[in-house]
Amino acid sequence: HFASVEMTPGDPILGLTEAYLADTRPGKVNLGVGIYYDEQGRIPLLRAVREVEQALALEAKPRGYLPIDGLPAYTQATQKLVFGADSPLLAAGRVATSQTIGGSGALRIGADLLKKVLPKAKIAISNPSWENHRVVFSAAGFDVVDYAYYDAATHGLDFAGMLADLGKLEPGTVVLLHACCHNPTGVDLTAEQWKQVVALVKDHNLLPFVDMAYQGFDKGIDTDATAVRLFAESGIESFVVANSYSKSFSLYGERVGALSVVGASREEALRVQSLVKRTIRSNYSSPSTHGGALVAGVLNSVELRAMWEQELTEMRERIHAMRAGMVQKLAASGSPQFGFIQQQAGMFSYSGLSKAQVDKLREDYAIYAIGTGRICVAALNHANLDTVVSAVAAVSKA
Ligand code: LMR
Repeated sequence: HFASVEMTPGDPILGLTEAYLADTRPGKVNLGVGIYYDEQGRIPLLRAVREVEQALALEAKPRGYLPIDGLPAYTQATQKLVFGADSPLLAAGRVATSQTIGGSGALRIGADLLKKVLPKAKIAISNPSWENHRVVFSAAGFDVVDYAYYDAATHGLDFAGMLADLGKLEPGTVVLLHACCHNPTGVDLTAEQWKQVVALVKDHNLLPFVDMAYQGFDKGIDTDATAVRLFAESGIESFVVANSYSKSFSLYGERVGALSVVGASREEALRVQSLVKRTIRSNYSSPSTHGGALVAGVLNSVELRAMWEQELTEMRERIHAMRAGMVQKLAASGSPQFGFIQQQAGMFSYSGLSKAQVDKLREDYAIYAIGTGRICVAALNHANLDTVVSAVAAVSKA
């Protein structure tokens, strides 16, 4: 039956981790996958999460099925985090939120939903975007097109190109936008630029699909949600938001995310939710219990939420410090051209390193980065920074 199956190329991000794990060289560094590591090089288990986990273990609850769209305590807390606790959209009942299998699951359920509702619509993603965006939306049957985003010459945003490309899209086109901490470039829009994008999207009747996987990783929970809040205020009737707790709660493997669909009215949101539930049921039936209970336990406790916000702040500040340290040390090693790394936001930096330089980093220095030159600055720490800096300086001079 399977004789005709050919080898499918490995995933450019998760496949690299497989190669990293198989590497036996001491001192190897994985700047590939987007994971936040602490100063000791470990994936943190947040204190707030541990508190909830210990309480849950003592309760030893039975494991019945969750509702198809997830734990209500989780979806309600998520809506408040994403849209703001005092959001008029929430008060009006216009947001339908479902717990999903990570942010990727939210994207796929959202994609399947939109394919049913708008079978002819295309989706536009930034050039470049997270590799899996194209894969997920293509798998859902979408024709995926690009809009200009990154300007390699300035290591910044090609905002004029972005507006021009968005302005050319047919009405009804879905536009995938990264709320903050753009993956892979680290290049974000300012609030002023977001206002222009929101106005254009509204004028041209495009359908925004906001992917917010790093809320709290750049400036803070509410500031990082500026795009969502501006769409909410804009009077746009409908838009979609995928969010993830993988990074902000350091719960990667628990697969905790959510899909929120904004409808024109409470009644429309309820109808949309019925279709979202059918979409989930026909895929994985219902989400798993543990991760959602952890997030809900933290967000619904005043004390634990404050503890989490403090831990999130520590993660964010450590990333900023590593960016600054890297830039400073690179300049001291004779490579002053990397100053832009400090302007970029979130876990990632498009370093400008070429594929050949990335290959050399891996082969000669056991430092793993994505072939596009994306590095995860959240994997740097004081123990590996000098190694990384001297290797990057060496390959960029060669
Ligand atoms: C990344 O881009 O490295 C992360 O979002 C992890 C993933 O699933 O690719």
